[in-house]
Amino acid sequence: MIKHLLSDFDLNRNELIGILNLAEEIKRNPTKYSQALAGKTLAMYFEKTSTRTRVSFESAMTQLGGQAIYLEARTTQAAKGEPLSDIAKTLSRYCDAIMARMYKQSDLEIMAQVASVPVINGLTDMFHPCQILGDILTVKEKLGNLKGTIAFFGDCDFNIAHSILVTFSKMGMNVNLVCPNIKTYLPNEEIIKKAREEAIGKINIIHDPKTGARGVDVIYTDTWVSMGQEAEAEQRIKDLKPYQVNSELVKLAKKGVLIMHCLPAYRGYEITAEVLDGPNSVIWDQAENRLHIQKAILLTFSKNKWQR
Ligand code: CP
Ligand code: NVA
Repeated sequence: MIKHLLSDFDLNRNELIGILNLAEEIKRNPTKYSQALAGKTLAMYFEKTSTRTRVSFESAMTQLGGQAIYLEARTTQAAKGEPLSDIAKTLSRYCDAIMARMYKQSDLEIMAQVASVPVINGLTDMFHPCQILGDILTVKEKLGNLKGTIAFFGDCDFNIAHSILVTFSKMGMNVNLVCPNIKTYLPNEEIIKKAREEAIGKINIIHDPKTGARGVDVIYTDTWVSMGQEAEAEQRIKDLKPYQVNSELVKLAKKGVLIMHCLPAYRGYEITAEVLDGPNSVIWDQAENRLHIQKAILLTFSKNKWQR
């Protein structure tokens, strides 16, 4: 059976530790892995825009001796109505793995059902597992452990919040999900329920921003208007305004708190420029770690199928 990375639930704690250790090893000795995926090809299928995911995966493949092919859905025959299942079957015949950025989680699952190569989630509305794996690496490097509390501020019913709550809690950190008490922003109940089955850390849903920030080790935020939510921008900005990460909020956290953002960031909205570009921000190291973790993800998921 092929192992896919469709959501954060696809990796247990030991597998997560394995990927983290491998990423640290590759980061220390990149040249040792320069031929690790020689002759292999990754298809990168994007329904949405991207800066980091696209470039980190493509650079990762190049630096591992392989190659990546960028496919923008609207310039493939998907634009003419070709079914995703036909596309995934075809890509499986040419390439050794598929990384896909989709709107619907169910569309990613359709691809995985028919693909004969590993399918990796490069972001859906529901999850962004590759991002959070890189973030775990960053927190471990900066704090020296995966203890304490990470607080996420903003829309908790979307990809970044969901992946944080599943993966950070599984790795032992407490997770504060800080959002308005409005259904649109509350984390998906099924995901919370399933995450709690594996969680070592506590998952807390908090509506008061100050309570959410008090004494935490990591503050994390994401855009208030995710890809696909542009039509709701005005309402979202209004609802999420009290959850802005600014210097007042940061003062409530532990001294030396890490400030994280998956990017792209909108200064003056979910985070102030002062905080994003300030001394506690680890955002650029966080972005860099996408590259190292992608390599570890590619090598891990290649173990069965790619070694043919
Ligand atoms: N964080 C992240 O996934 O960035 P991109 O949307 O630029 O890929
Ligand atoms: N929640 C954001 C994440 C971008 C990496 C979005 O989906 O647009």
